[in-house]
Amino acid sequence: MAKNKKIGIAVTDPGDWTGVALRNAIRRIGMQPIKFSFSNATSDIPSGKLYAGNIDLSALDAVIVRDMGPSTKKDISFRFDILCQLKELGIEVINSPESIARAANKYVSSYLFRKNGINTPGTVVTNNPDEAIKALSTFGCAVVKPVFGYKGIGVERIENNEEGVKKLKELLEKNNLLYLQEFIPNPGRDIRVFVVDNNVAGSIYRIAPPGSWINNLSQGGSAKPCILTGEQEDLALRAARATGTVYAGVDIIEGDRDYVIEINGTPSGKGIFEASGVDVAMKIAGYLKDMVV
Ligand SMILES: Nc1ncnc2c1ncn2[C@@H]1O[C@H](COP(=O)(O)OP(=O)(O)O)[C@@H](O)[C@H]1O
Ligand SMILES: [Mg+2]
Repeated sequence: MAKNKKIGIAVTDPGDWTGVALRNAIRRIGMQPIKFSFSNATSDIPSGKLYAGNIDLSALDAVIVRDMGPSTKKDISFRFDILCQLKELGIEVINSPESIARAANKYVSSYLFRKNGINTPGTVVTNNPDEAIKALSTFGCAVVKPVFGYKGIGVERIENNEEGVKKLKELLEKNNLLYLQEFIPNPGRDIRVFVVDNNVAGSIYRIAPPGSWINNLSQGGSAKPCILTGEQEDLALRAARATGTVYAGVDIIEGDRDYVIEINGTPSGKGIFEASGVDVAMKIAGYLKDMVV
């Protein structure tokens, strides 16, 4: 019976490691994986049809969103709209479009962490240069990040001095908005926790390359297996719950205490598999197996 279940995998790059792992995992649970890309999405209003290339999206039983694909301000909402419409048709979409949006937006996720009592560094988001300068002087050393950033791109450390203030003003002029976070002194590594369905599926340390303080694997960081403390596990599970993500990559940094720095609603499983042998795609497939009956 499960054999007839069609599971869409939204992925842009056909060779993407996580996309391939998800396809294999879906096959292993006896369902049919169908990859599609949002770059090919079409909605035909008269017929009500939603498709990507020649794939009828409304005929799917569930959709796993590996990535939303490269998009601009002008077309990103269309992709979210399609996911919302698929949900309306009764199709299980993981992660849900709402939770992907919350996790992708660092301002919203910081707000949700605070609201749910999840320890997160001091953060100020502002359009106002005076407020930004005030925050920098309170933090002493700040990390500036794009609100919709990923893979450590555009993350900068700013010191509380004349040069730092100049840089801050430049960044504000360029982006119209500043997301400033207190820099947390740490042991040169952070922790990526992969959560699936309210459980920790795997976790790794990510160690910054020499001379860097950015630990993302895509920025040259290396991965090592990591055993979480109970506190770290609890933080990761609560962060996933706060954003409503079924599966998520939660970044934790070890300072004077543990802090959740951000959450990713479309995380890669590659680093965790390579460092610890844990196949998070199988855990995601396991979740779907119970949901799609
Ligand atoms: N507040 C902070 N204090 C210290 N290091 C940080 C802080 N915020 C981010 N970093 C470092 O920068 C990296 C990228 O930041 P992150 O918030 O995870 O954004 P991205 O979405 O680009 O991965 C983190 O993995 C961590 O190594
Ligand atoms: Mg990160």
